[in-house]
Amino acid sequence: MPSPHAYIRSVGRYLPERRLTNKDLEKMVDTSDEWIMTRTGIKERRILEPGLGNSFMAVRASRECLERAGVQADEIDAVIVGTVTPDMLFPSTACLVQKAIGAGRAWGFDLSAGCSGFIYALSAGAQMIESGRYAKVLVIGSDVMSSIINYRDRNTCVLFGDGAGAVLLESCPEEGYGILDFIHHMDGGGGDHLYMKAGGSLRPASIETVQNNEHYIVQEGKQVFKTAVTEMASVSVEILEKHGLTGADLALFIPHQANLRIIDACAGRMGIDRSKVVINVDRYANTTAGTIPLCLYEALLEEKRLKKGDYVVMSAFGAGFTWGSILLRWWE
Ligand code: UT7
Repeated sequence: MPSPHAYIRSVGRYLPERRLTNKDLEKMVDTSDEWIMTRTGIKERRILEPGLGNSFMAVRASRECLERAGVQADEIDAVIVGTVTPDMLFPSTACLVQKAIGAGRAWGFDLSAGCSGFIYALSAGAQMIESGRYAKVLVIGSDVMSSIINYRDRNTCVLFGDGAGAVLLESCPEEGYGILDFIHHMDGGGGDHLYMKAGGSLRPASIETVQNNEHYIVQEGKQVFKTAVTEMASVSVEILEKHGLTGADLALFIPHQANLRIIDACAGRMGIDRSKVVINVDRYANTTAGTIPLCLYEALLEEKRLKKGDYVVMSAFGAGFTWGSILLRWWE
């Protein structure tokens, strides 16, 4: 008998209080609310207070997630954190979370896959559950994008925000539900279009790298845009077809939130009505690994858009390039 699928038993999130609006950005760089709204659909984003790191958000999202499930931290077997903005290169954010929440039995790791960080981490966690070896895996998507943004570069500073989401994975009690499948891809050829030049072992931090602004995101927006639309739509159609489904069978499509035009183009290619697409890019912008769990949280808890048996596709595209889709059937 095949081992049961993993399912998402609980969710939690953390969003910083501080809002950075398009009007605020108009005072910082040569941009306008009108340009940002029409090109991206973003109105505002959240910014973490200076002096706090990624683990601050990841811990709060995790605590809420566990509280909602009534699960104690020492029941957790593993912690996986999708992120490109860890508190520091090491120890991992997973270690910091493990200590702060008191998940004494857990092991875990950070997973770097840009904006695909959460879906990659969710798939890894689901496989750990499916293996039968682990009962409870905490999967977090959390990024402090404000820590790697140059607020003098209008090409990038309007696009990103800070935020975190966490989910608890367990083995699904009923067959045919839970995380049914995933398809992920990677193309290292995309590395030239979205990257951070320094701060790793190739170009460690130095006075020169700081003076040259090499610790900030660099993005060729147009190239990333085109590839994101093509690949996110194609991998989402691929996973639907593999399971004999079409866009019309989906209750919800949860896409990565980078740009409203990318989201609309993907939904259009998949034949999904706008009413079934989860969108919060207007309020939080692109929180990298945070976008999909933040969307799930809102759709599930605030908008009550999920019920037992609903088919959901999550899809993301990010630096690397990395991209993929997950098909799940909601349980409970
Ligand atoms: O999540 C990871 C993956 N990332 C993404 O998915 C992001 C993908 N890319 C995008 O979302 C879009 O390409 C952008 C929003 C970044 C840019 O939109 P676009 O329609 O592709 O604009 P563009 O890059 O072609 O720029 C058009 C013009 C340029 O001026 P010129 O050269 O035509 O005179 C830019 O300099 O808009 C200018 N521009 C701005 N103007 C006002 C760029 N940024 C701004 C700005 N305000 N903030």
